[in-house]
Amino acid sequence: MKTYCPIGVFDSGIGGLTVLKEIVKKLPAYDYIYLGDSARAPYGTRSFETVYQYTLECVQKLFAMNCQLVILACNTASAKALRNIQQLDLPRIAPDKRVLGVIRPTSEVVGKFTKTKCVGVLGTTGTVNSDSYKIEIEKFFPDIKVFQQACPMWVPLIENIEMNSPAADFFVKKEIDSLFSKNDKIDTIILGCTHYPILLDKIKKHLSPSVTILSQGEIVADSLGDYLKRHAEIESKCSKSGTKEFYTTDSTENFDKLATIFWKENIRSKHLSL
Ligand code: DGL
Repeated sequence: MKTYCPIGVFDSGIGGLTVLKEIVKKLPAYDYIYLGDSARAPYGTRSFETVYQYTLECVQKLFAMNCQLVILACNTASAKALRNIQQLDLPRIAPDKRVLGVIRPTSEVVGKFTKTKCVGVLGTTGTVNSDSYKIEIEKFFPDIKVFQQACPMWVPLIENIEMNSPAADFFVKKEIDSLFSKNDKIDTIILGCTHYPILLDKIKKHLSPSVTILSQGEIVADSLGDYLKRHAEIESKCSKSGTKEFYTTDSTENFDKLATIFWKENIRSKHLSL
């Protein structure tokens, strides 16, 4: 029997489930471990150093659970920690393991969607201030202009199960209006935080129907499928019994309540101490 070697999927909280859901739809055969660092969420307002240190700790936990490949299903961690982990930490701590993020695969495809060449990015303060989307999109599509808006209230609203409240409507409208005040020709929006699809209905309500909202989960799932095809040395190590395990660094009760609303199936998580 093949050794249990799941694919690790990491986020600061439950947002990464929006990515895992699409990954499982596309690649159901593999085993997955999801880790949400809910005890320390949100990451979006934390410093570069803190996000890097928290993310590295969680990646090491996933490596210790025998993950060969970890996806940072978190834009903030992808913006602030991925490069250091790939370039400084992996060669030292786990040269045969791989860590991938979500910003690059999303940036690679955005040119297929925009006609006006004006793209909007909604993200956490950390992701927006890092300019990671601007930098990545510029590499692939130098003619695209990127306009960004930080939405610091959106993740706390979701993590506190307030996503259907009037407060959520207020803050969604506020940030979308701010984004479009920067440029009204934006025809494509990247939800540059994996929590935001949970607010999708509200986001759509305040947007013109002509604006395309990219589905980051699907994009990342396609990109992972492609990566596994191109990297047999990693793919061959990933076990395929179709299992899913969920871990949180905070109360499992809160995690399960929130995760179940979103996942639409009962989730029974386990606690992981850091
Ligand atoms: N879901 C995460 C992201 O994609 C992080 C949100 C947060 O913890 O602030 O950016």
